[in-house]
Amino acid sequence: MKNIVLIGFMGVGKGSIAREVVKKSKYISLDTDDLIESMENRSVRKIFEEEGEEYFRELEANISIWLQKSVQNTLISTGGGFYKVKNLKKIGTIVFLDSPFEEILKRIQEHPNAEKKLSKRPLLCDLDKAKELYELRRPSYLALADVVIDVTNKSAQECAKELLTKVKKHA
Ligand code: S3P
Repeated sequence: MKNIVLIGFMGVGKGSIAREVVKKSKYISLDTDDLIESMENRSVRKIFEEEGEEYFRELEANISIWLQKSVQNTLISTGGGFYKVKNLKKIGTIVFLDSPFEEILKRIQEHPNAEKKLSKRPLLCDLDKAKELYELRRPSYLALADVVIDVTNKSAQECAKELLTKVKKHA
């Protein structure tokens, strides 16, 4: 089993879909933001505040090298900017979770923990800037993807099922 690498914009549902994939398969899962937080013993938000974005991107680059060398049979959920690491395609099958910006916002705002979801993501604080970032990134996400899942109006369970079918076909 090759690794599966989930990419996509903040709040698109990478974490929830990853949890459903794990339930339906034999994949072990990990999350690049969680790895960074445990290595640094502070939140992503704190790392952005105390060290700046460039430092955070260096941590992502280090993790990407480790993932390529040392991780197998794993579902890897990534932060929205992780797609920029140089070796992304060497880590595994790339699955892009796609949805219009407005749908992503709606999804976050309707979540019971909306405030927490927004406050833990420094790059989502300014919605105009976030929309610009979305427009800038979407073509790159699409270009890198081996598999694209449109998550709009689908449950995490439905997306997970579709993901496993499409990844199997792609292999
Ligand atoms: C980021 C997305 C975040 C986190 C960091 C930067 C980005 O992860 O890695 O705040 O650049 O899009 P999520 O996509 O899980 O929110």
